[in-house]
Parts: sequence; structure tokens; C-alpha cells
Amino acid sequence: MISEARKYQAFYTKSTPIVDYMVSKLSLQASDKIFEPCGGDGVFVEAILSENEFAHIDICELNPKSVEILNEKFSDCPNVIIRECDTLLDTELKFNSCFGGIYDKIIANPPYGAWQDYEKRAVLKKMYPELYAKESYGLFLYRCIELLKEDGILSFIIPDTFLNLHMHKALRNHILTTTQIVELALFPSSFFPGVNFGYANLSIITLSKKSNYKECLQNVFNVVNGFSEVEQLTNIEDEHLKTYSFKQEDVFNNPDHAFLIAENSNILKLINQSKFKVGDIADCVTGFYSGDDKRFLQVISPELKNGKHYNLVNAETINSDYKNNPDILTGIDGHQHFLPIVKGGNTKYLKPESWFMNWSKEAVLHYKTDKKARFQNPKYYFKFGIGVPMISSSSITASLIENKLFDQSIVGIFPKDESLTYYLLAFFNSPTCNKLIRTINPSANNPANYIKKIPIIIPEKSVLELITEITKNIVDELKAIGRYNENEELKIWEMIKQIYKV
Ligand SMILES: C[S@@+](CC[C@H](N)C(=O)[O-])C[C@H]1O[C@@H](n2cnc3c(N)ncnc32)[C@H](O)[C@@H]1O
Repeated sequence: MISEARKYQAFYTKSTPIVDYMVSKLSLQASDKIFEPCGGDGVFVEAILSENEFAHIDICELNPKSVEILNEKFSDCPNVIIRECDTLLDTELKFNSCFGGIYDKIIANPPYGAWQDYEKRAVLKKMYPELYAKESYGLFLYRCIELLKEDGILSFIIPDTFLNLHMHKALRNHILTTTQIVELALFPSSFFPGVNFGYANLSIITLSKKSNYKECLQNVFNVVNGFSEVEQLTNIEDEHLKTYSFKQEDVFNNPDHAFLIAENSNILKLINQSKFKVGDIADCVTGFYSGDDKRFLQVISPELKNGKHYNLVNAETINSDYKNNPDILTGIDGHQHFLPIVKGGNTKYLKPESWFMNWSKEAVLHYKTDKKARFQNPKYYFKFGIGVPMISSSSITASLIENKLFDQSIVGIFPKDESLTYYLLAFFNSPTCNKLIRTINPSANNPANYIKKIPIIIPEKSVLELITEITKNIVDELKAIGRYNENEELKIWEMIKQIYKV
């Protein structure tokens, strides 16, 4: 059984500054026909009625219990019409969308990632073939843009993932070519009482419908961020906030129409214009999963993070000869069949050898046939490259994969020219790289697809050699004494900053 809250994603907008900001963005007029597509308990409707008690408002709401509350609350308002229906499937709304829209204003906090049963998901996929049907908020936004009249205004509070994620490319295309964005406010999800997504921030997008796509692309809009408290939404000119202007055409021309929001215009230039991206000079691939780590993975010491959940490896079963074994991908015969594996965790330059995978012939056969196991990209196993954890708690980090296995929480990066390995290792550990990846994807995730898009500049030979040498020294120091001279690292960061001007 799924809970009511999960089924309907009923997180109500109990924040006066958020509600006031969104209502003010609608520039309400007395004659407006207004739509609230997911009524909840009616916070937006109450705020609108307190400005104009005669406002014409249509509300849709799926949950019968919420409809009951709405009926009670607004029983004295003949101008408020409440329907129990599914905004995404309703035929009346579908009809009105097809004929150019009927609303002057729309305001919503739609469900995010609302649970949809498989039947409904299949119907939604058919109705919105271009969109990502699993993420409900995008479908609500699309439906509501269609429901707006020409020049009608909409204000939505939604996660900011639609700005960058691949799967929302079609939605970005729709927004950029059928609407003029009025303003985009970006702030932490913790501003929203009771909700903290962790994985994403929140955004309020206000836009106005325009059928002429050239006028859409010429539109210039502001993005506001740098909020430290929710009250700042009521004073968007607050000098502590950061405001950036963008032309829609420029966003449209970005790779995948992504909204790249960066303080430094050099960052945008690099992302759009650099001759090479990481994906051009290196293979970026996800690593291995045994399907059952408790059974196959062993640890060097129980003291290690999560170590106590795994069996201790017997030093005599560790194989150190495997690098010369041409048949390594079929497994190892005999007693010594445990091999080192690089796992996630944000350690720079070099990870100590702490985890070992069972690589016996039997085990490898299991990995190749088990449904849960991922024997993916095996041609990169046991090669010399670098690994970037898929999730970085703060800054992106990278460490060497010295002819080891690497697991699926890591993206393995294997330069086509192996002599670039130490330069890339230095680059991935630099603040410059962090700024670039966080502009390409502001969440803490670094999947291979985003890493491939990071611009790369190979410096002149002498600089390349110097960075390579210092980085090698750092790795050697780590091997010898377990730490390195941070001043040397600062030198590298400065050189990389000079190369990229970021
Ligand atoms: C995130 S809440 C927001 C409610 C209200 N607008 C607010 O801001 O407080 C989303 C609401 O949408 C309703 N809902 C979920 N799926 C819906 C659908 N397909 N059609 C209409 N309403 C839906 C839920 O029952 C819930 O009340």
C-alpha cells in the first residue's frame, strides 16, 4: 500500500512569502480567468480571493478528501468552481489545450515525482510522448502552458531539475519556444516547510504564453538566486541577491537547451565553444557491480567506513600477479583470487587499497549471468585511468585507478592518450573543474554523460609536463607517507585557473 501523501504528493505551500511572491508575479486583473490545477487545501485560491473576492477561479483536484475540504472552504464563492478530476488526463482540459487555451492566469505547486501506476504511466506516455512521464511536475507544466491564453501568465513552484537534466530537454524546448520567461527564482528546497529533497533545489518559474517563437527567443529574462532566507522573495531587488539576465535564444542554443547559470561568463563561453570536451579525449564509463556485494566483496579492516558489514579478506587470497594475466576477464583459478577494487567516496588522487572482489572463475561466471550483477564495460577493467565518484558531497574529486577493478559508484575515465592521465587527475581535483561541472549539472551527481560534456583544454607542452610532474609527486608522497604537500596542489590549481580563465 502506498501512503496518501505519496500517492497525491500532497505537500502544501505553507509559506506566506512563497505564496505572496507567486501571486504577485501573476499581475492579477479583475476580469482574469484563473486556474489552480492541483488545489490541495486551497492556499493559492485563498491568497487570490483575499486580493479580489470576485476572482473567477477553476480548481482541479484528484484527491476526494481534499475536494471535500475545498468544497467546504469555498462554498460561499459562486465564482470558484471545484472539480474532482485528474488534471493530466481530463478530457475537458485536453480539449481546451488543443484550442489555444482559456486561462489568463495559472498558479500551481504540482506534485513532484508523484507515484503513477503503470497503466496510468502508459497512458501519459502516449499523451505526452516527448516528455519524461515519470516526473509529474513536467507534465503539469506542459499541460498548463497549453491551457494559457496568448499573453496569459503562469507561476509554478517546482524542483530545478528541469533546467539541466537530459530527460527534460523536450520540456525546455517547449518553454523556450512557446513562452516568454518572466522570472526564474532559485532557492534551497529547505525553504519549503516540511520538504527537503536533498537532491535538488526549488525554483519558481513565471512565464507568459507567446505563439510567435521568434518573439520567444528574443525575450530576455532574469534569474534570481543567492537567497539566504525565504523572506527575501518578498523583496526580489534585495541587494544581497544575485540576478543574471539571459536571452532565451542563448539558452536555446546551449547544448541540450540547458539553462547554464554561472557567475562567470567565461564558464558559459567554455561550455559552449571549447574545441574539446572530456568525452572527445577520454572514454568515460560506469563500473562493475557483483549483484551481491555481501557475498563477493571483502574488506581489509572492519574499521573502514561500512567495513564491519563485510567479511575480512585473508591476505593470502589476494592476487598481485593479475596484471599480466591475459585471460583475467574469465576469472582466476586457484586460491589467490581476490583483486583490489576502487569504490566511491571522495578521496583525492589515490585511494588506499582496502576492498577486494572475489574474481574466481565461478564468481566471474555469476557476474556475467546474474540479473542483478552489472558486468558492464569490462574492456576497461584493470586498466590505468582515473575514477570520479558518481556522487560528490562537496567538490568533485578524482583518484587513480591503477589497473584495478572499479565499481558502479564510480565513473572510470580512460584518456585515449595515456600520457594525459596525470593532467586529467589534477584537473578533476581542481576548483576550475568543479565550477564547470556544477554549471553543467548543479546537483551533486556526476554521471558519465555530464562528465563527458566538461570542456577540456590541453596546455602547451611545458605546462602539461609541469602539472604532470607535480601531480605524480603528490601521488608518490601519498604512497610513501599517506599525505601530500598542499602548497603543491595550490600551484596546480593556479596553473589550471590560468589555462581556463575560470
Ligand atoms: C503539492 S500539493 C499542492 C497543493 C496546493 N496547490 C498547495 O500548494 O498547497 C499537490 C496537490 O495535487 C493533487 N494532485 C496530485 N495529482 C493530481 C492530478 N493528477 N490531478 C489533480 N490534482 C492532483 C494532490 O492531491 C495535492 O493536493
